[in-house]
Order: sequence, then structure tokens, then C-alpha cells
Amino acid sequence: MKLRIPDYIEELVPYPPGRPIEEVERELGLRPVKLASNENPLGPSPRAVEAIKRALAGLNRYPDGSCFYLRRKLAERLGVAEDMLIFGNGSNEIIELLVRVFVREGDQVIMADPSFAVYPLVVRAQGGVPVRVGLDENLRISLKAMADAVTERTRLVFIANPNNPTGTIVRKDEVEWFLNGLPEGVVVCLDEAYYEYVQDEGFPRSLDYVREGREVVVLRTFSKIHGLAGLRIGYAIAHPQIVDYLNRVRQPFNVNSLAQIGAVEALNDTDHIERSIENNIKGLAYLYREIEKLGYPFVKTEANFFLIKVGDGEGFYRRLLEKGIIVRPMKGFGLAEYIRVTVGTEHENRAFINALREITEEYREREGSHL
Ligand SMILES: Cc1ncc(COP(=O)(O)O)c(C=O)c1O
Repeated sequence: MKLRIPDYIEELVPYPPGRPIEEVERELGLRPVKLASNENPLGPSPRAVEAIKRALAGLNRYPDGSCFYLRRKLAERLGVAEDMLIFGNGSNEIIELLVRVFVREGDQVIMADPSFAVYPLVVRAQGGVPVRVGLDENLRISLKAMADAVTERTRLVFIANPNNPTGTIVRKDEVEWFLNGLPEGVVVCLDEAYYEYVQDEGFPRSLDYVREGREVVVLRTFSKIHGLAGLRIGYAIAHPQIVDYLNRVRQPFNVNSLAQIGAVEALNDTDHIERSIENNIKGLAYLYREIEKLGYPFVKTEANFFLIKVGDGEGFYRRLLEKGIIVRPMKGFGLAEYIRVTVGTEHENRAFINALREITEEYREREGSHL
């Protein structure tokens, strides 16, 4: 075969798929506790599930290409005009649309390092150049360093707030300083996939920036607090002119009908949202306390996951897996000493801590025997 592939595609490596949880279960012979993907441990909104079941008989029809009902509901909820919203097959799709619209071959896109792994993948696939800016000494995104990285070729900036995998935020004053210093024509994407979990009062009111007409795109998702990751639906809020360009490159039926129906009901399900926030706050308090007792440093989070500095991140990941607990090793993110753990249910958090305690004892015994 003689394929003519652009260099920037040739250089890409496909994203390695994780094994289905059923496979891990079969191999381990026990039901694993999955704390690896920042999902909602309470499951999907029950109201969304009921609405989806009722909608199944209509699957012979194409979905509504404009997300009419969801758009109306969300615009009202957020207090923005309907033409300031765009929906995607997960917020991941909107990341792709942004890059397709704003980035030409050789253009630069600034992002933190480490941050959400999808940004550099999508930028490279478009022939763009990801400019990866290291975190500060507290593993926080440094908007100062990001501002220093802006050049004439910069078209887009991705700021995950809270950041994944660190769970840290950038505050209102920092974001405003950053936005005020940017040259015109640089679009800033504030990716707020975890914003419902944030408790810090200093978190920016990002929709204000959109309302002020700034070149800001706020990204949110139904995958996290609403528990609908498997349905694939996310959205962006931006100036109508930006939304118009994004609409030009999107597929007409990019959001499936079950996702649209589920999302409307998930928004209505304030009970589920409140329970999820509560579970996260309680879970974090428990986990922080226990991790402290075990003597590991950790990074305080504003999201539903956090980093623990265990030392041998890969080793702990493997030992936890053997005990049926799936977490995320951070070596691939340049944080080899850390694991990232999603807050689970009370039962799951306890299982994780118990397993971590056992592994810690094994490690410390082994270290002791070397002395
Ligand atoms: C920072 C960040 N943005 C976006 C997403 C993806 O969201 P979605 O499921 O809506 O594509 C994630 C998921 O892990 C994330 O961590």
C-alpha cells in the first residue's frame, strides 16, 4: 500500500485503550473498584436513566441536530442566550472543533504540562504545535509562565480549571490578569469539566467573560457530576460569533438523541447533583485524613480526584490492581512518584484505604529488611 500521509499524522501514536472493566474482573476473579477515570461513583442521574428508557422506542429517528430542548433548558439555567451554546459528543468533540476552527499547520496552542492528555493529541492531529508549559512548584498551573509562552503564532490556550490530573485551580484574579494581557486573536478555552465540585470562593465566574464579549470559550460536560460519561455529551458557552464558526465544522447529528434526553433530565435532577457534591466533600475529608495518617503527601483538590505522592507510582498502581483497586499511575504525565485517585463511594474509599495500608506495610517492611 502506498499511502500519502502528512508528517504530523505519521508521528501520532494511537491513544492506548484501557481494558474493559469486565476483563479486569475476570482476570482478578473479583469485582474491581474503579477509581481511575474521575467518573461519578453514584452512577448516572436516576431521572436521566428513566427518561432514556422511555426514549428507546424512538431510536429509528435521527436526533435533533440543534439540541432544541436541551439548549432552551441550559440557556435558561445559565442565563445566557441560546446562540451562545454548542453541544458536542463529549466536551472532547468541542476541543476538536476548536482546534479545527482556530489552528492551521504550524500554529501554536498553549497548554499546561501535565494537563488533560487530549489537548496535545488533537492539536498534533491538525498539524498544530502544542506548547506545553510546566506547572509551578506546588503543581498549580502558572498563568504567568503561560503568558510568557504567547507568541505571534499562538491561536489557542487550553486551561483546565480545575486541572486534570492535579485537581488544582487558577483563581479569578489570576485568570483576569492573564486575559487582560493577551493579544487579540488568541482564544482561551477554560475547560471546566469539574466545576460543579469546586468549593473555593476564588474560582472565576467564567461566564462573565463570555458575556463581556471576550475571546473565551467555557467548556463543560455531562460526563462528571451528572454521571453520563458513557453517553458522550458536553457543551461550550461562547460568544455567538465563535459558536457560529464551531457550528460550521461540526457534524449535523453529533449529539445522539439519548444523550440529549438524558442531559435535560440530569439538569433537572438537582437531588443527584447535590448528593454527588456531598459524597465528594465527605469522601475527600475521609481520604485526606487517612492518607495523612499513612504519611503520604497529597495535592489538595477542587475536583473529584487527587494526587497522592506514594513514591513508586507504578509499583503502587500494580499492587493496588492486584487487590482489585484501579487507580491511575502518573508516570506518563511526568509525575512518576504519584498516583491519581478518584473519590469513590464510602465503601470504595474504604476499600482503597485498606488496600493502600496493606501495601504501605509491605513496602515499609521490605525497606526495613534492606537496612
Ligand atoms: C479536563 C477535562 N476536560 C474534558 C474531559 C472530557 O470530558 P468529556 O467526557 O465531556 O469528553 C475530561 C475527562 O476526563 C477532563 O478531565
